[in-house]
Amino acid sequence: MVSGGARAVARCDALAVQPFSDSAEGLTRTYLSPAYHAAQEQITAWMAEAGMTVWRDAAANLIGRYEGREPGARTLVIGSHIDSVRNAGAYDGPLGVMLGIEAVAALAASDVRLPFAIEVYAFGDEEGSRFPAAMLTSRAVAGTLDHATLDVADRDGVRLGDLLDLAAYPSARREAGEILGYLEAHIEQGPVLEAEGLALGTVTGIAAQLRFEIGLCGTAGHAGTTAMALRRDAVAGMAEMVLAAEEVATAGPADLVATVGVVEVPSGAANVIAGRSRFTLDVRAGDAAVRDRAAEDILRRFRGIAGRRDLGLSVRQVHDLPASPCDPALMDLLDAATAEAGHRPFRLVSGAGHDAMIMAALCPTAMLFLRCRGGVSHNPVEHVEPADAEAALAVMSGFIRLLGAKCDA
Ligand code: GLV
Ligand code: MN
Ligand code: MN
Repeated sequence: MVSGGARAVARCDALAVQPFSDSAEGLTRTYLSPAYHAAQEQITAWMAEAGMTVWRDAAANLIGRYEGREPGARTLVIGSHIDSVRNAGAYDGPLGVMLGIEAVAALAASDVRLPFAIEVYAFGDEEGSRFPAAMLTSRAVAGTLDHATLDVADRDGVRLGDLLDLAAYPSARREAGEILGYLEAHIEQGPVLEAEGLALGTVTGIAAQLRFEIGLCGTAGHAGTTAMALRRDAVAGMAEMVLAAEEVATAGPADLVATVGVVEVPSGAANVIAGRSRFTLDVRAGDAAVRDRAAEDILRRFRGIAGRRDLGLSVRQVHDLPASPCDPALMDLLDAATAEAGHRPFRLVSGAGHDAMIMAALCPTAMLFLRCRGGVSHNPVEHVEPADAEAALAVMSGFIRLLGAKCDA
């Protein structure tokens, strides 16, 4: 018989190819794309097979519920996301959903009912790889979504409102009183666990994030006839800004990071000096004040560069996510379950963003990290050992049991 951890990994692998990927090669699954819907259909079947009642909410999250001893009991949410970055690895997100399904399948197989219900959430928009926003669907659930944020369009001009009923979207919200806590298992996406020789770690908190879209406006011109001194080149200005952001982050503390992940030159051509360019800027640090000072410094430098090069500069803040500490009591439970499963408890901070940081506005949160090979993620070579997934499943099952005992006490 295939163990639950190995099956969770195998299911992520199965979801990494068409029709569950939008691209013929590699994995790209963006929010509300055909691949997203196909993946939901497959996961619906797996949730139902594990003994859950399944539905989709107004934000297009997929939810499976396993009732507790009493119908309508308070709920432990176990979740992660099923959207991906472009050319993604198979495990960033889906593994947490698959492990949640396996944890429920194990309970159902031995007919165990708890003093709480369990709902497995497959969130939709954690990465922000389609629309210029991120974590829309968990923000809807946590009730922290500002309606104006939904007014977004993708690169092809398709608006979120063309795909979903935006008036209904906030009805995905859950009430704080009905949710007991949130547990997310996720690959670490960094090298710490591997360096420690550990399969698992308890997350203490998630770094604060700021994301911007930057636009530059110069003058389009002929590449052969326009003297260098006469140019207002939107690509050269962008290049200088990218390096300025790197310089500021490099000079700061080790957990301060700044990334330009998308650069675009609309109507770019080899023989045209770019009249317009745009790029994204993502700034993170464990401490929001450090992050904010760095972002101010970077934007001040951008203004200086734009002024010197006579370029128009527009700056739009896409999101501002505060640092999110995990719940101390739930961290203790995860540590206890880790020790019970025969592993050394170990705590670490998350530089990556997760739906857990949004859910923290609704309920106490806990995150369990799994080692991934070389710490590599957001890359098709992302790899998780099935044995580590097995260990994670044992810890999640122990956590659920310990939480049940605490509720009964
Ligand atoms: C999600 O992967 C993020 O940290 O941006
Ligand atoms: Mn990711
Ligand atoms: Mn993720």
